[in-house]
Amino acid sequence: MEISGSRSLTFILAFLLCFCSETCNAKDDSTNCTSSCGNIRNISYPFRLKHDPKHCGHILYTLSCENNITILDLPYYGDIPYSGKYYVQTINYNNKILRLLDPGLDNNNCSSMPRNFPPANLLRDPYRSYNPTTNLRLSTSIFYLRCRNPVNSSLYVDTAPCLNSTATSLIQPKSYSYVKVGPNDMKVGELNEGCRAERIALMHLKYYKPSYEYIHSALMYGFELGVNWPDELPDKLTCKGYSSDIPHPKCFPNTIPGA
Ligand SMILES: *[C@@H]1O[C@H](CO)[C@@H](O)[C@H](O)[C@H]1NC(C)=O
Ligand SMILES: *[C@@H]1O[C@H](CO)[C@@H](O)[C@H](O)[C@H]1NC(C)=O
Ligand SMILES: *[C@@H]1O[C@H](CO)[C@@H](O)[C@H](O)[C@H]1NC(C)=O
Ligand SMILES: *[C@@H]1O[C@H](CO)[C@@H](O)[C@H](O)[C@H]1NC(C)=O
Ligand SMILES: *[C@@H]1O[C@H](CO)[C@@H](O)[C@H](O)[C@H]1NC(C)=O
Ligand SMILES: *[C@@H]1O[C@H](CO)[C@@H](O)[C@H](O)[C@H]1NC(C)=O
Repeated sequence: MEISGSRSLTFILAFLLCFCSETCNAKDDSTNCTSSCGNIRNISYPFRLKHDPKHCGHILYTLSCENNITILDLPYYGDIPYSGKYYVQTINYNNKILRLLDPGLDNNNCSSMPRNFPPANLLRDPYRSYNPTTNLRLSTSIFYLRCRNPVNSSLYVDTAPCLNSTATSLIQPKSYSYVKVGPNDMKVGELNEGCRAERIALMHLKYYKPSYEYIHSALMYGFELGVNWPDELPDKLTCKGYSSDIPHPKCFPNTIPGA
C-alpha cells in the first residue's frame, strides 16, 4: 500500500513538473521572435512591433513600423509631457541603448528643426537619459534662442544662414537667432541677455563644434536613450499586460490590452 501510494505521488509530481516546464517554455517564447522594419533588421526581446504576435517581446517595449521606419512613441505618463514619435536609428542590445532621430530634421535642409519636446530628464519606464551600464549621461541639450540684441559669446552659436534673424515689423521687433549647448538643467523661458529659449533638442554628447551647420548634422545622427530590461524594472511594470494609459497606468497580469 505504502509503495503504491508513493508511486502515484511520483506520477503526480512528474505530471506537474512536465506541465510546468511546458508553461515555462511557452513563456520563454517571448524571447524567440525576431521582426524587421526598414533598416532595423533585428527587433527582438524585449522589443516587439505593434502587430507582432502577443507572446513576442514585452508590451512596455512596443515599437511600430510606419512606411518601413521603426518608430518609438514616447507618450504621456503621469506628469511627464508628451514627447512624440521618434525614428529608431539603431538598437544596441549589448549596451541597452537606442539611438533616436527627431522626425522634423531633414538631412538636406539645415533650416529644418526638431519637432518634438525632447525627453531630456523626464522619461517613462523603461527609458533613461543615462547609459544603464555606466550611469553616464548620453546626450546634451541644445537650446534654440531668440535674442532682442546680437550676443557676442562663445557659448552662443549663430544659426545663420540656416535660421536667420527676423526682420523688424510693426508688431515684432527684430530678433536674432542662436543655439546654445547645455546646460541640461536650463529651463525654457527667459534667459539673461534678453534671450528666450523657443525649443530644445538633444544631441549626442561626443559631437560639438561651434558652427550651426555642424550642430545640425550632429542632430541628424540622433540622440541616445538608455533602456532598462524587464528584469531591471520595478515588479509592477513587468507584468505582461502593462498599459501606460493616460493618466493611470494599469497592470493586466494575463492579457495585452489592444493587442
Ligand atoms: C525559436 O522557435 C523556433 C520554432 O518554434 C525554433 O525552431 C527555434 O530553434 C527557436 N529559436 C531559439 C533561439 O530558441
Ligand atoms: C538579434 O538580436 C538578438 C538579441 O541580442 C541576438 O541574440 C541575435 O543573435 C540577433 N540576430 C541577428 C540575426 O543579428
Ligand atoms: C518596405 O521595404 C520592403 C523591403 O525592403 C519593400 O518591399 C516595401 O515596398 C517597402 N514598403 C514601403 C511602404 O516603403
Ligand atoms: C527646409 O525646412 C524649412 C523649415 O522646416 C522649410 O520651411 C523649407 O521649406 C525647407 N526647404 C526645403 C527645400 O525643403
Ligand atoms: C566679440 O568678442 C570678441 C572678444 O570678446 C571680439 O574680439 C570680437 O570683435 C567681438 N565681435 C563682435 C562682432 O563684436
Ligand atoms: C538666410 O539668409 C541667407 C542670406 O541672406 C539666405 O541665403 C537664406 O536663404 C536665408 N535662410 C532662410 C531660412 O531664410
